[in-house]
Amino acid sequence: MTDTIKISPSILSADFSKLGSEVISLEKAGADYIHIDVMDGHFVPNLTIGPEVIKKLRPLTKKIFDVHLMISPVNNFIKDFANAGADIITFHPEATEDTAKTIDLIKKEGKKVGISLKPKSKIDLVEKYLSDIDLVLIMSVEPGFGGQKFMPEVLEKTKKLKAIIKNKKLDVDIEIDGGINFENCTLAKQAGANILVSGSTIFKENKGDLKKNIEILRKN
Ligand code: DX5
Ligand code: ZN
Repeated sequence: MTDTIKISPSILSADFSKLGSEVISLEKAGADYIHIDVMDGHFVPNLTIGPEVIKKLRPLTKKIFDVHLMISPVNNFIKDFANAGADIITFHPEATEDTAKTIDLIKKEGKKVGISLKPKSKIDLVEKYLSDIDLVLIMSVEPGFGGQKFMPEVLEKTKKLKAIIKNKKLDVDIEIDGGINFENCTLAKQAGANILVSGSTIFKENKGDLKKNIEILRKN
C-alpha cells in the first residue's frame, strides 16, 4: 500500500445534541476529514441534516468537510452546501438527470467532486467522468443508516475501479463507506480504497475512544 490512508469519521454516529463538540473531539482525535451524511427521506428512507447545520459547524474546525449528499434531485442544493462550507461534495448519479451538469455545478463552486456508487450501482455510471472528478465513494451498505453490516461483494468493484484509475494514470481517491470495522478495513485498503468512512466503529468501539479507534482503522 503506497497510498496514504485517510480516515473520515461519519458524524451520523455522533451525539446530535452536541455536534459541535463532537466535531472538535474528532479533530483532536486525529480525523483527516469529517464525513457529513445528508439524507432527505426521499432518495434514502432517513432524514438527517441540511446546510444550516454545516454552516454552524464550519467555524469550529479547519478539517475538510466531506459531504455525502443522499438527496434527490440534487442540483438545486449544490450552492447551499458549497456556501455552508463543504469542501468535497459527493452525490449519487441516480439523484441527477445529468451527471456532467452536476459535476460542473460543484466545480463552479470551487469544490471537490465525488460520485457515490450504491452497492448495486455499476462502475459504468462513473467511468467516463473519472478524469473530471476527485473521488469515487463506494457504498458498502445500502445508503440510509449507520450501523449496518459491510457487504464484501463491493470489494471486487473497488479493485476494478482502482485498476481503471491506475491504468488511466488519474488522481482519483477511492473512499469506502458503510460497516467498516477493524477487520474489513484491511480488505478495503487492499482492494484500493484510500479513504475510510466510519461511524459506528469510531464512536462505539473501545468505549468510544475516538483516538484509539481512528488509529486502529488507519494502521490495520
Ligand atoms: C450510510 C452513510 C454512512 C454511514 C457510516 O448511508 O453514508 O456514512 O453512516 O456509518 P457506519 O460506519 O456505522 O456504517
Ligand atoms: Zn456517507
